[in-house]
Amino acid sequence: HLHFGDLTDGTALYSLLAKIRPTEIYHLGAQSHVRVSFDIPVYTGDATGLGTCRLLESIRDLKLPCRFYQAGSSEMYGGLLNDSLLSERTPFHPRSPYGAAKVYSHWITVNYREAQGIHASNGILFNHESPRRGETFVTRKITRWLAQHVKGLTDQPLYLGNLEAKRDWGYTPEYVCAMWRILQQETPDDYVIATGETHSIREFLDEAFGCLGIDWSKHVKIDPKYYRPAEVDVLLGDASKAAEKIGWVPRVKFKELVQIMVKADIKGEEHGLTEIWDRA
Ligand code: GDD
Repeated sequence: HLHFGDLTDGTALYSLLAKIRPTEIYHLGAQSHVRVSFDIPVYTGDATGLGTCRLLESIRDLKLPCRFYQAGSSEMYGGLLNDSLLSERTPFHPRSPYGAAKVYSHWITVNYREAQGIHASNGILFNHESPRRGETFVTRKITRWLAQHVKGLTDQPLYLGNLEAKRDWGYTPEYVCAMWRILQQETPDDYVIATGETHSIREFLDEAFGCLGIDWSKHVKIDPKYYRPAEVDVLLGDASKAAEKIGWVPRVKFKELVQIMVKADIKGEEHGLTEIWDRA
């Protein structure tokens, strides 16, 4: 069932929880675009940060016997520290209003766990991608443009920002399994979910265009409007706690992920699916 709601509307959230009385909540809602958070920082703080508190406070007030998953983010880190992988023990240093709001969400979740006894856990998920990724995020922007180019549907260049940033990109279906596993634990806790590999946007372009034998440098143009006032240069996670405690290990790595996305977008163009997704 789809119920309408808004993370900035605490009264409506409270009523929904009172009506549904869920046993598990996967809180994935947010203003989740990092670049956009610099344009609308107050709204981002309200929805992405306080939205989490509104949900937790409703659970507490209603005395709901439910488990709560909070979608943390690798954007809470400012990047690699002394070249060591980012883990649950690494201090946060957010570089965007989005990252700062997620740090609040992380700690308010820990606080409701410690102070109110709520079964509340944080998954600190590194970037996760799939054919369903929104088109304004860099991976899907690239694979969608590529599919349109191959099908002769665009004569525009692909405009991108910083090609040097590196991300630890995993495959979303596997990350959703990790969320579920986190909530099945008797004791709530916080876990990094990542592949342990990092690649630049440039490498993503190499792989995506390369698998079709196309030279991306002839098609990509840099538009500074996609630069961020402060960038997270390199993200690389250590998910060994998740492997040890909840038995989660990623299987799909970078090359396969890029190929899945390129193939799906080309197939989508062939079947007019992209158009359907546009309208959804
Ligand atoms: N979006 C976008 N568009 N990013 C670009 C572009 C472009 O045209 N060109 C270069 N980039 C660079 C960004 O500067 C950034 O370094 C990197 O590509 C990835 O950007 P996004 O795909 O927008 O993802 P993100 O890393 O900022 O954030 C995503 O992952 C987080 C987990 O670390 C989002 O899904 C967040 O909600 C999530 O928490």
